[in-house]
Amino acid sequence: MNEFVSVVRGVGAYLPEKVLTNDDLGRMVDTNDAWITERTGIKKRHIAADGETTSDMAAEASRRALAAAGLTAADIDLIVVATATPDFTFPATATVVQNKLGITRGAAFDIQAVCSGFVYAIATADNFLVRGQFERALVIGAETFSRILDWSDRGTCVLFGDGAGAIVLERQEKSAAKDRGVKSVHLRSDGRYKDLLWVDGGPSSTQTVGHLRMTGNQVFKHAVSKISESVRAATEMAGIAVSEVDWFVPHQANQRILTAVADKLGLDDHKVVSTVAEHGNTSAASVPLALSVAIADGRVKTGDLVLIEAIGGGFAWGAALIRM
Ligand code: ACO
Repeated sequence: MNEFVSVVRGVGAYLPEKVLTNDDLGRMVDTNDAWITERTGIKKRHIAADGETTSDMAAEASRRALAAAGLTAADIDLIVVATATPDFTFPATATVVQNKLGITRGAAFDIQAVCSGFVYAIATADNFLVRGQFERALVIGAETFSRILDWSDRGTCVLFGDGAGAIVLERQEKSAAKDRGVKSVHLRSDGRYKDLLWVDGGPSSTQTVGHLRMTGNQVFKHAVSKISESVRAATEMAGIAVSEVDWFVPHQANQRILTAVADKLGLDDHKVVSTVAEHGNTSAASVPLALSVAIADGRVKTGDLVLIEAIGGGFAWGAALIRM
């Protein structure tokens, strides 16, 4: 029997045109650029236009990932969309994206693991591919968090932005993949922490969409320790030392969390890819967005070992190692 590995063929991203700066937010709630910059590192974020949906952004990021891979939509037989802000309660946003891309074969479904959704989506697609069940997957993180924010709550509305990122993962025979591919994925969740970060609405509870609620300082503490644990587990699983990692592409929640995790793991600053200043926290989209920036500017290259991680509501969290 063939032994398969999932290899990254292409990465793409999309950010909506409209930019909201810290100064803009200072005119909406009692906050200012100095506070937001010092506590989070965020300077601006992108906001979806009226009528622009999660699936619109996901489809555009996918087109760019396919172009980077030198492939077309017809080459795809699996779509996994990580999102907490779907277009509809159902059908899955992934099927809307499938239709927008003109794909009529294979399977498409959503993953709901909030900010850690992209790591969960990679894990899911990887399992299907290495089992030989599908050939090529679009793995997408896409969010319109602007639609679930309470724009009068300065403790949360300053943190988030909209956007999408996508990667094409391809099944290849391990013997031919030259050590490339997904090396390990570690996933965790613990539902006891629901009340620290959640949305106070939903079809089954309130029949409303609801707004994001968060106890930020508590989330901060859990984020640093849980992410570090997950990274250690993923590296051990792969038999790879953290020092061998070429690029750390973390979930872009807050510069202080990124720095604290990198310090705890002993990762040099120059290996950390940070887009938090320009994008804010785009939840499931943040890792593929940051990865696409680091590929576009020439930092991340084929053969580099990339470490990704994320944590979000649930809590749900995880980390993965990928040889590009
Ligand atoms: N502008 C000005 N003042 C503010 C703002 C704001 N935007 N937001 C809160 N404050 C005030 C608070 O009201 C409080 O005032 P008080 O002392 O008079 O009561 C004071 O600032 C301190 O509030 P804290 O919440 O303790 O501030 P903290 O230093 O923890 O920073 C922050 C808040 C930035 C949210 C931080 O806790 C954080 O980043 N936590 C991580 C949460 C996160 O990133 N969540 C994203 C989802 S999960 C994930 O992706 C990891």
